[in-house]
Amino acid sequence: LENVDLVIVGAGLFGLTVAQQAVEHAGARVLILESRDHIGGNAYSYIDKETGAEIHKYGAHLFHTSSPVVWEYVNRFTKFTNYVHRVYTTHRGEVFPLPINLGTINQFFHAHYTPQEAEALIREQAGELASSDPQNLNDKGISLIGRPLYEAFIKNYTGKQWQTDPAELPAGIINRLPVRFNYDNRYFKDTWEGLPEDGYTTWFERMIDDPRIDVRLNTDFFDTTQPLNRDAIVGKVPVVYTGPVDRYFDYSLGELKWRTVDFEEVRYDEADHLGCPVMNFADADVPYTRAIEFKNFNPERRAQQNANKTVVWREYSRTAERGDEPYYPVNTQTDKDLYARYADSAAQQPSVVFGGRLGTYKYYDMHQVIATALNAYEHDIASLLGANEERQ
Ligand code: FAD
Ligand code: NA
Repeated sequence: LENVDLVIVGAGLFGLTVAQQAVEHAGARVLILESRDHIGGNAYSYIDKETGAEIHKYGAHLFHTSSPVVWEYVNRFTKFTNYVHRVYTTHRGEVFPLPINLGTINQFFHAHYTPQEAEALIREQAGELASSDPQNLNDKGISLIGRPLYEAFIKNYTGKQWQTDPAELPAGIINRLPVRFNYDNRYFKDTWEGLPEDGYTTWFERMIDDPRIDVRLNTDFFDTTQPLNRDAIVGKVPVVYTGPVDRYFDYSLGELKWRTVDFEEVRYDEADHLGCPVMNFADADVPYTRAIEFKNFNPERRAQQNANKTVVWREYSRTAERGDEPYYPVNTQTDKDLYARYADSAAQQPSVVFGGRLGTYKYYDMHQVIATALNAYEHDIASLLGANEERQ
């Protein structure tokens, strides 16, 4: 530890961004501890040998941002492909474009409504529950976009995501259901989007390609049988902690709730199985929520991909138990109150900065995690690095 100025727990995008900044601005010597056997956190990917597909091991990751600062920053480490994200959904044996747009509406009602006509129709259908205050997710969905579209495209999909009948789910899960009254089915509204040209993991390796950054994989910060553990480090060297905040405090106030996703891999002797990268399944009779065909994220790599084989991952959503990968914060009022109490405890640890999605119990996209890491470096971490210390 004598040769370490900063310890970072977690080699996800938060930890990697902080490490890169600490070296660049303070010449710091950084030690990153990572319990998994790879860097990149949940955005990690690998190339599947059989098909040549880049598999996003923890679920499909699409990069998008409207922040010039973040876009400029990520472009220092990777170029992005011109991939534009589009999603389709299968409902009663038919494929529709998402998000719900004029194409979806006209296909669903076998009509040729103009934008104005479609808007008037949806308003009328939503009026079914106009004067009521919806208490459950079903009523809320109907009040937002009307019963026909809600029941076709939202109800069962959301039910599968939560493993719960939407009539039993709180209305607050959905605040808005965007409907586009034109044929634009570009999924993200951000200024920039794309996938890293050489893959996610190459991007992340370039961020920490510096002799002053040392990464220890397969190293759990709480494992007292290895020397680089919490008790040996905290108080001696500043720490950036990106693991679960409740875990840091030994769950002393209780556990924050998360949802997780199970993946089922299916292989086909076909060039292309879905015809697109992401197909949702809107109906209850298909048990998974969506299927991802990774080859189709990178059509520019066709020459390196196997033309006769493809791989698809089906996603099943459920509540996380301890030991599962925590993916999406459940974020009920109880969770929010509990997190606020953990955040108070975190604030009382002067030499530990809590960051990232696990450390702050927030759903962040990659661009948001990078933005918060750049901010945290500037406002909380730089000062911990002892600017008075002499470094070359
Ligand atoms: P993480 O990536 O979770 O990294 C934290 C790291 O800390 C992990 O590697 C973990 O192993 C390590 N760690 C935890 N505890 C310890 C410990 N005790 N000791 C050592 N190491 C530890 N974002 C997008 O922009 N676009 C998308 O399309 C998108 N899709 C997503 C799909 C899914 C299913 C999920 C789950 C997330 C998705 N995201 C997406 C969000 C994206 O994954 C996150 O924004 C980003 O990865 C968060 O980075 P992080 O560093 O905060 O956390
Ligand atoms: Na702190």
